[in-house]
Amino acid sequence: MNALSNSLCNMPPASGRQIPEAAVVRLPLYLRILNDLIADNCTQISSEQLAALSGQNAAKVRKDLSYLGSYGTRGVGYDVSYLLYQIKRELGLNKAWPVVIVGAGNLGQALGNYGGLSNRGFVVAAVVDTDSSKVGSVVGGVKVAHVDELPQIVQSKSVSIGIIAVPAQHAQSAADLLIRAGVGSILNFAPVILNLPPEINVRIVDMALELQILSFYEQCRIDALEVAVVSAPESVIA
Ligand code: NAI
Repeated sequence: MNALSNSLCNMPPASGRQIPEAAVVRLPLYLRILNDLIADNCTQISSEQLAALSGQNAAKVRKDLSYLGSYGTRGVGYDVSYLLYQIKRELGLNKAWPVVIVGAGNLGQALGNYGGLSNRGFVVAAVVDTDSSKVGSVVGGVKVAHVDELPQIVQSKSVSIGIIAVPAQHAQSAADLLIRAGVGSILNFAPVILNLPPEINVRIVDMALELQILSFYEQCRIDALEVAVVSAPESVIA
């Protein structure tokens, strides 16, 4: 892991325990499953069930949950509500986090209007843009502000997470501005590696990159099929 990559594992967990990054990354997945279970009035879950629902193995699930101090009860499993509370507490989701979106273009508007953010503990406190034609328009229930107002917004609304939704060539300056304003974590959608101080936590979302990885595996699958057809005896092909 380099200085530019995510540094979740360096962050002290709420419990004071050190939780490996790989486990931290799985906690939101468990959280989503537990929320669905609550909606279905399910009160208990075994590690095997949680493993099946999350695509993990049960031993890994038990290990992950042990970092929270949660061990379940033999033969009964875990109390869904309490486990949900523990994961939320560990992820710092027992309060709503105000976030600021930098860039009110196609993506910024889609993110701002996405109800899934507020459902999961994030409030769009502000959306900022450099384009005066966008300033004053409403995105996600808030008026788009000029980017010059960012420092004052971050301070007055206690924003600690910034979302970058600007073109790649402006992403570094947007990140610098967010950091100068006091933001400690950045979710970067722009297809560029940001040069950030090591104490800043950054997560990168790149849908095209993920698709390129899938295209690699699709190509491998197709190549393997072609090899199989070429090397099959004629009688089998017929
Ligand atoms: P867009 O051109 O529709 O919007 C960009 C907005 O950023 C514009 O409103 C522009 O005025 C504003 N802007 C430019 N410089 C700024 C600055 N320094 N401070 C504040 N605002 C500034 O672009 P779109 O389609 O919304 O894409 C935004 C970014 O998100 C691009 O980097 C794009 O590649 C990326 N993207 C990433 C995706 C992903 O899966 N990670 C998916 C879609 C887009």
